[in-house]
Amino acid sequence: MKIVVSGGLGYIGSHTVVELLNEGFEVVIIDDLSNSSVEVLDGIIRITKKIPIFENFDLREKNKVQQFFKKHYDVAGFIHFAASKAVGESVQKPLLYYENNLAPLIYILQELQEKLVANFIFSSSCTVYGQAESMPITEMASIQPAVSPYGNTKQIGEEIIKDVAKVSSLNAVLLRYFNPIGSHSSLEIGELPLGIPQNLVPYIMQTGMGLRKELSVYGDDYPTIDGTCVRDYIHVVDVAKAHVIAIQRLINGKNLEQVEIFNLGTGRGSSILEVIQTFEKISEQKLPYNIVNRRNGDVVTAYANTEKANAILGWKTKLTLEDAIASAWNWEKKIQKEKFKSL
Ligand code: NAD
Ligand code: WQD
Repeated sequence: MKIVVSGGLGYIGSHTVVELLNEGFEVVIIDDLSNSSVEVLDGIIRITKKIPIFENFDLREKNKVQQFFKKHYDVAGFIHFAASKAVGESVQKPLLYYENNLAPLIYILQELQEKLVANFIFSSSCTVYGQAESMPITEMASIQPAVSPYGNTKQIGEEIIKDVAKVSSLNAVLLRYFNPIGSHSSLEIGELPLGIPQNLVPYIMQTGMGLRKELSVYGDDYPTIDGTCVRDYIHVVDVAKAHVIAIQRLINGKNLEQVEIFNLGTGRGSSILEVIQTFEKISEQKLPYNIVNRRNGDVVTAYANTEKANAILGWKTKLTLEDAIASAWNWEKKIQKEKFKSL
């Protein structure tokens, strides 16, 4: 059975491709390598001993999307990861984000809505909840006005999918990820941030390696357990496995609502200081950090209620924060060693 994975050489996409191949699916990756490298494909092949089809093109080119669906008319499911994801950059370049995160979605749905059967999974984000009123956050929590163009593209993307489902046979699952971190245990694939990392865990890893002088902790005067912001850090492999279960559910087609929404988190909130302590324990070294001003647009606390995904998907996270931090640390050590060797 053929599953298309757009953005399949990216961070979450590559881990999902591995899980799909391991479950016996045939996988077609679409990626334009704008935020990834073709070497990720080698990593996927080394882990799975299987070779996915790779189509290298930019999904903003509508005619290429149309040609793709002519060639791969027998698609059983489409998982759409491809997007631009840097929140700060989206404020600077809003049109790039609106174009890249919405035009491909529209072109893909234009093709899928013509089909008698169409199964679609969309990468959404906990960012749609903004600062939720109560914790843990359920899928029923209200959507808050987006603080960035990036966040807005996820909200609009969800709305576009719901509208298309109303007038077609499209079946869709919207997965709202909390904070995916970590790497595959094989250390063949992992997170590869370009430039200075904006997210907490990649920044911690590079600081731990001595590539950055110190971590800036954005505020310690929030109303939380230790004053630092609280998030739901989830191992990327658990996130990837949820996609396989969701696509199996869509293909199976039993007791489906046409559009279903699930939170993907662990259900547990961790403060920044807790993440730092976990890193220090695992790496057996101190992390240099400094408390600085709050970062604009940050929510105080966000962690998921996972009951819906547990009950309906039958999915539960298996890996802990310690597992995720250990895998991220091992991955960072490996990629820096390889860079050093190639000098
Ligand atoms: P990523 O940047 O690592 O992967 C995205 C991939 O899509 C990259 O390989 C990139 O080259 C490709 N791509 C981008 N635009 C493309 C285009 N126009 N045509 C073809 N390929 C294109 O990002 P990720 O962290 O794996 O995120 C995957 C999805 O999950 C995104 O939609 C993101 O918004 C969403 N998401 C991510 C997080 C997170 O913390 N990483 C959290 C919530 C939601
Ligand atoms: C986590 C915490 C920072 C870096 C982002 C996106 C969101 C979603 C998930 C995609 C915050 C603090 C960070 C640093 C720090 N992604 N921090 N020093 O803010 O939950 O959300 O990822 O959809 O849209 O905005 O994740 O990793 O950036 O930050 O103190 O150098 O760490 O202030 O409290 P966040 P993050």
